[in-house]
Amino acid sequence: MKAAVVTSFTQPLELQDRPIPAPGPGQVLVRVEACGLCHTDIHAAHGDWPVKPTPPFVPGHEGVGVVEQVGTGVTARQVGDRVAMPWLGHACGRCDHCIGGWETLCEQQQNTGYSVDGGFAEYAVADADFVVPVPDDVSSFDAAPLTCAGVTTYKAIKVAHIQPSERVAIFGVGGLGHLAVQYARLVGGIVVAVDVDETKLGLARTLGADHTVNAATTDPVAAIEALGGIDVAVVTAVIPAVFEQAFAALRRGGRLVCVGLPPETDGPMSLPIFPTVLKGISVIGSIVGTRADLAEVFALHAAGRTTVVAEARKLDQVNESIDEVLHGRTPARLVFEF
Ligand SMILES: NC(=O)c1ccc[n+]([C@@H]2O[C@H](COP(=O)([O-])OP(=O)(O)OC[C@H]3O[C@@H](n4cnc5c(N)ncnc54)[C@H](O)[C@@H]3O)[C@@H](O)[C@H]2O)c1
Ligand SMILES: [Zn+2]
Ligand SMILES: [Zn+2]
Repeated sequence: MKAAVVTSFTQPLELQDRPIPAPGPGQVLVRVEACGLCHTDIHAAHGDWPVKPTPPFVPGHEGVGVVEQVGTGVTARQVGDRVAMPWLGHACGRCDHCIGGWETLCEQQQNTGYSVDGGFAEYAVADADFVVPVPDDVSSFDAAPLTCAGVTTYKAIKVAHIQPSERVAIFGVGGLGHLAVQYARLVGGIVVAVDVDETKLGLARTLGADHTVNAATTDPVAAIEALGGIDVAVVTAVIPAVFEQAFAALRRGGRLVCVGLPPETDGPMSLPIFPTVLKGISVIGSIVGTRADLAEVFALHAAGRTTVVAEARKLDQVNESIDEVLHGRTPARLVFEF
């Protein structure tokens, strides 16, 4: 099979011919039909984060395809099922987080395309219990971005506990942000989209954003203050200073939801204590979503409530595609089609 492989954090990905993996006990073999390119895959390929993957590895945690074989002991899935293989590739199922509905916090978790090989390949094996069925009326092309960008921003909106008519700013309208705008609208938020690219702001308006702010040409804090401030900020941009801007734009009682994961070398965000206390601000970290969250994301899409904005690429274009994302030239998401 053809696979895009990270061989070193300083080299482009290599297209390799690899044997099709065999599903072990409890696993399924999936023939990948589509896999989105998440900015996380770029962080993985560059070794940006404190906990690094070990090359060689195959990135990709928005893989969607059809089960071709099942390993011993698999009862949950069958040959022919169409499934998604999200970032949460495995969790223990026994710890307090898993039992309490927070499997995404499991300390024993495996991550697809990071600690285990992912969807940038014609085939992938996955834990049968952690693949998520894709409804018939959701295409594999649409399901791919929903598998990370969708579930992550859906969860970020959930943990922000937005009341209808609260003002919600989405900082960064890329792969994640274009879906965040839509989920914020679905829960009744008045949405402010912030980006540095006019095309992305135009897209945000098309997707229902009530206000847009171009942070390349305006001070986003002043622009948001002129609107009356925001109750919730969801930050998907990959720059620590943007988290600080989002914090500064919050009203009393505001919630800062941190989603973007800038490289470790870009340093921490710095938040002043006094306004955090006086304004009663909550700072919330939000990491992907559970299998149940992803099923809800698919159900909403099947019901016509969300739009996925993406362009197709071939796996051979993986390195050019990474450049496109890094330079902000993509519509919202790029999806490798097989
Ligand atoms: N927390 C999680 O569970 C989770 C899940 C998936 C991805 N992520 C992380 O989220 C981040 C975003 O991922 P993505 O795939 O959406 O990336 P992306 O590159 O598609 O989107 C980033 C967006 O930020 C915009 N931007 C750049 N500078 C900005 C600024 N100064 N102000 C506002 N916007 C600005 C870009 O124009 C772009 O639209 C990455 O760090 C990724 O690793 C986190
Ligand atoms: Zn992702
Ligand atoms: Zn666990």
